Amino acid sequence: MTNNREPQRSRIGIFDSGVGGLTVLRELYRQLPNESVLYFADTARLPYGMRSSGEISQFCFEILTWMVQQDVKMVVMACNTSDALAREALCREFNIPILGLIVPGARAAVAQGTRFGVIATPATAASNAYRRALLEFEPNAKVWQVGCPEFVPLVEQNRLHDPYTAEVARQYLTPLLEQRIDTLIYGCTHYPHLAPVLREILPSSVVLVDPASHVVTTTAQELDLMGLKNSRSPLPTRFCVSGCPQQFAQLAVQWLGCTPVVEKIHLPTVSHPSVPI
Ligand code: DGL
Repeated sequence: MTNNREPQRSRIGIFDSGVGGLTVLRELYRQLPNESVLYFADTARLPYGMRSSGEISQFCFEILTWMVQQDVKMVVMACNTSDALAREALCREFNIPILGLIVPGARAAVAQGTRFGVIATPATAASNAYRRALLEFEPNAKVWQVGCPEFVPLVEQNRLHDPYTAEVARQYLTPLLEQRIDTLIYGCTHYPHLAPVLREILPSSVVLVDPASHVVTTTAQELDLMGLKNSRSPLPTRFCVSGCPQQFAQLAVQWLGCTPVVEKIHLPTVSHPSVPI
């Protein structure tokens, strides 16, 4: 619970549809080791990347409502799809800082090259959010976005080392390699889990940009600015899911290095002001 007298000690809320957000959590442990975290994975409803913008906005609205009830001091959307489709509206509706990956990721990427490939969920690719952000920082940028519908299910089924995953990856990357990209952005937080497979296919000259590390740098700046950084020891991370807790724990152990304690929670049913349900 929040300590109203000491808001610094409240948790940061991090959410994703599944284990993708662990790539952000991993960075947060590295860069902000004193922060306490509430991690939520909406595993009952993944993948988000195949859903409509109305559904994604509704899910995010429910998650934010619940996270605010849990007294988080800030929310990091560890899901590009939610960032692309819902963040702007959420920032208008909730009175806490809500950070997304796309702007920090694009800002970091333009320092690396000029020919950008973006691999993302179909919903993120169709939204053009990365193209817009990259062009804002570098008007001469060339951007190619590819929707990769099979990646999230393959990661969530733990098929990282399956030859089929490598075959699918080759198909997604081929059009980008034909355009001679110099920089590849992970436009979905699940994809850094596929780094060994992707690195095998990409020429070594292609720089990989993971927005996770950059959103955490932005989080650190925001905490400083708002006087919300925790300087005491953190609480253990609280992991919550909407689906099966055991399944999440078994999958997550390989990235967390220990088996997490996972709670199943029911999100409050709330109606989003701009989405009829
Ligand atoms: N990891 C999320 C993202 O960054 C979405 C995955 C999904 O499709 O559920 O976009």
